[in-house]
Order: sequence, then C-alpha cells, then structure tokens
Amino acid sequence: MSNQITVNTQSAANYSYQVGTNLLEEVSAFIEKQIGSEKVFVVIDKNVYQHHIESINQAFQSRFQKMVTYVVPPGEKSKSFDQFGSIVDFVLNQGVERSTPLVAIGGGVIGDLAGFVAASVMRGIPLIQVPTTLLAMVDSSIGGKTGINHSTGKNLIGAFYQPKAVFADLNFLETLPEKEWVNGLSEIIKYGMIEDPEILHQLERIISENGFTNPEKWQSIVEQSAQIKIDIVSRDVHEQGIRAFLNFGHTYAHVIERVGNYSNYSHGEAVFAGMYGAISASNQLGATIDSKILDSFKALYNFDLASLKTRIDEFPPLMLKDKKAKNQQIRLVLLKELGKPYVQEVDDMKIVQASWVEAIQSFT
Ligand SMILES: NC(=O)c1ccc[n+]([C@@H]2O[C@H](COP(=O)([O-])OP(=O)(O)OC[C@H]3O[C@@H](n4cnc5c(N)ncnc54)[C@H](O)[C@@H]3O)[C@@H](O)[C@H]2O)c1
Repeated sequence: MSNQITVNTQSAANYSYQVGTNLLEEVSAFIEKQIGSEKVFVVIDKNVYQHHIESINQAFQSRFQKMVTYVVPPGEKSKSFDQFGSIVDFVLNQGVERSTPLVAIGGGVIGDLAGFVAASVMRGIPLIQVPTTLLAMVDSSIGGKTGINHSTGKNLIGAFYQPKAVFADLNFLETLPEKEWVNGLSEIIKYGMIEDPEILHQLERIISENGFTNPEKWQSIVEQSAQIKIDIVSRDVHEQGIRAFLNFGHTYAHVIERVGNYSNYSHGEAVFAGMYGAISASNQLGATIDSKILDSFKALYNFDLASLKTRIDEFPPLMLKDKKAKNQQIRLVLLKELGKPYVQEVDDMKIVQASWVEAIQSFT
C-alpha cells in the first residue's frame, strides 16, 4: 500500500512524494517509464547496502541493462569535498549522459551528498531520492536542499536541486537503529508543535504500541509530516519566508550541537531540548503553552545538559552567529499557541537567557 503527494516547486518541475511499503519495484518502474534510461547510478549508504542490497538488486537489475553502484561510508564525515569528488569521478568515469538517473539510497547524508552530485554532473542529471531514515523520510528528502560541509561549517556548499521523485519505503526502517528513530522523532514532534498538535497524540499511541519495531504503523504519520514540510517548502521554495517555521527549536539546537562539538548530542536531541527553549521564549512573549506536551517523549531520549548549566552566558552570542540570524538580532521561531508559529527578532537578552535556563533545567 502506498500514497502519493505532489510537491509543487513553483516551476514546471513538480515531483511526487510516495510513502508506503515494498516500493522498490515502483522506483525502478518509475525510472523506466518516466526517465527511460537503460543505465542507472545508485549511490547508497554502506549500512543500507549491507542490509538491503538484495532487494534493491532484485527490483533494479532485471529492468536496467546496467546498474552501477557506489557505496558511501556512513556518517556526517562523508558530506565532504573528498567524497563529492570521488563520486563525481566515479560517475564520469563510468559514462554518464544528461538523462542517466542517479538514485540516492540512504539517510540525509546520502540525500544531501548524492543530490549535490546529481545537481553538479553535466549541470544536472535526474535525481531520485529513496530516504531510508525516519529523518530523511519526513525532512531531508523534501525541499531540494543538497550539499556538503566545509571546514568552517555545516552545509556551506550546495545547491537547491529538486528530485524527479521521492519514494519513502517504510521497509527500510526495519533495520534502523533505535537512536536514529529518536533522531527523526524530534522533527515529527516539531511538525506537531508548529502545525498539527494531533500528530503528538498519534505519536504517543504508535510509540506505546512498540512503533520502532513496526515500521508499517508509521505510514500515516510519515505522510502527514511529509505533507506539512511539502506545504511549507512549496509556498517558499527558496527559503525567503515561512520556511523559517521549520526551524522551530533549531536556533537553540545549533548552539547545543556546537558546544557539544557535534559529538556529545545528536541533532535530534538538540532539537528536542531546543523546543523547550522556544516554548519558554514564546510564553514570555504572551503564549501559554504547557511544555508538558513534550514531557511524554522525554523517556525516549537519553541525554543530559547538566554540564552546560554554567555556560548559559555563552549561548545568546552564539545564537547571533546562526546562519539564519539577521541584522545582528536573534531570530527565533516562536508559537502564539500550538500550531501557530511566527518569526520574531528578539533583542531582550533577559528573555533569551531565561529561555536557556528553562531548556537546560529540563534536562538536568
Ligand atoms: N537537505 C535537507 O533539507 C536536510 C534537512 C535535515 C537534515 N539534513 C541533513 O541530513 C543529515 C542527517 O541525516 P540522517 O539523520 O538521516 O543521518 P545519516 O544519513 O547519517 O543516517 C544515520 C545513520 O543511519 C544509518 N542508516 C540509514 N538508513 C538505515 C537503515 N534503513 N537501516 C540501518 N541503518 C541505516 C546510516 O548508515 C547512519 O549511520 C545531516 O547531514 C543533515 O545536515 C538535510
């Protein structure tokens, strides 16, 4: 069973996002029918390769004369110039035409890296995204941001490049480690906070029914989450306005990740804690949101911010360094109420400071 959503890119290049189970046959049929190539490049995460290459081969090899596979080492380190260069070399050396498709199979690292390769080779070859982590299914595979990291910061080199289609096949989640489930969970909770609080109740229910071992139970929630991101990015393709709402909790998260040297806390943990900070700032500016709404997910997270307690003074200045800060003001995504986000430049440091105290206290 699968469901399909159209992603509007405000150009001729709209594409479909499909979520369901056993979709690999549909991926290869789509390439055959819509792109019509006899050759296909597959760029795949090593862990995904180890678990799933047989079913991928089964779906692809009978349909294409040539399937050329490049296996990428797992982890953020692969979003590098070196990996980018190696894959570009590989694709060019293997022989590529403007119409040869590249299928990116993996989490956000592979989607961003292989997406940037597809955007760059011959100024753009067809890209198909097959996200395999919860985070990639509900977030990174949608919106057309591709890129790699630079020694001076994350995601500093890249391009907006839309895929021809996204296929979120829930079967991949059968092998996803629990910590990666939790990582993706934070983004779904974020969607619940900024758009549809009902999602939070659904999440609680699925998790209480051993959701992490039953990927097929996630179809509806992945679809609703993807739809929220699709609606937002379709209305703001190049990130000029409302796309900022997707950053709820993230201005705090970026600081937490940074002071944790990008190793002490995962992105998902930092976003989860960051949402407590954003709720606190929202409440100081007039909202009445009970952060208990997040507490029911706390037991799934396993981190502690006690060591940051004495460093709170450092954090507001770091927020000013956020890529999305403007005019030397801290820009926060806040809530008027659940499901009603807005962007506010906050210059009252007492508010920012107090919001940090609350975020940190929630995890000590
Ligand atoms: N382009 C965007 O709009 C966007 C949005 C959010 C995040 N991102 C980027 O996404 C990246 C993070 O993505 P991620 O959280 O998916 O991490 P990831 O790609 O590093 O995957 C996490 C881990 O899960 C493993 N894995 C992936 N799928 C698996 C599966 N089905 N079974 C077993 N193991 C599997 C990987 O090998 C890796 O070890 C970051 O680089 C971030 O910058 C991009």
